[in-house]
Amino acid sequence: MLKIKKIAIFASGAGSNAENIIKYFENSSIAKVKMVFCNVPNAYVVTRASGLGVPVMIFSRDEFYNSNKVINNLLAEEIDLIVLAGFLWLIPENIIQLFDNKIINIHPALLPSYGGKGMFGENVHKAVIADGKKESGITIHYVNEKYDDGDIIFQAKCEVTAADTPATLAQKIHALEYDFFPKIIESVLINLS
Ligand code: GAR
Repeated sequence: MLKIKKIAIFASGAGSNAENIIKYFENSSIAKVKMVFCNVPNAYVVTRASGLGVPVMIFSRDEFYNSNKVINNLLAEEIDLIVLAGFLWLIPENIIQLFDNKIINIHPALLPSYGGKGMFGENVHKAVIADGKKESGITIHYVNEKYDDGDIIFQAKCEVTAADTPATLAQKIHALEYDFFPKIIESVLINLS
């Protein structure tokens, strides 16, 4: 029998994607979410993950960049894949090197447009609407040492209408994320060496 793969989710905010992914893999024979890593102690993702029985590790900026606390936990839990779901800090180089092609992120726009530092959450949707774009979407990509820069694994599009606000566009984007992100994670895991 194949060993169940272990996922670590990194999140900084509301955690609706984290919840969706945890639930998707709850009864899976392929993978399981072992742990949620969070840099914001009072983020709602902490409540969601704990409510679903997934342990949460909180870490500070100093611990992330200047200690081995996070990397040691990833190794101790034998994590196979790191999934960034609304996580807003760059991943340190030692983690990127250790998890070569084993860190993926979801971005709420069609990269390479509307990516980079400061482009997260509502900021992205505001910029897309301000530019009068007719479509937006999601990008799932591998993570490297830069913001929103690694190889693209998957994109899906949605229409942006004149009636859209950042809030309604966020809803459309979230719907795409909930639909596709767990399935793409699953296919990345199946193809993992
Ligand atoms: C998601 O829309 C995700 O694509 C975005 O943050 C949101 C988190 O929502 N990520 C970024 O903007 C990364 N640059 P959630 O906390 O409810 O899952």
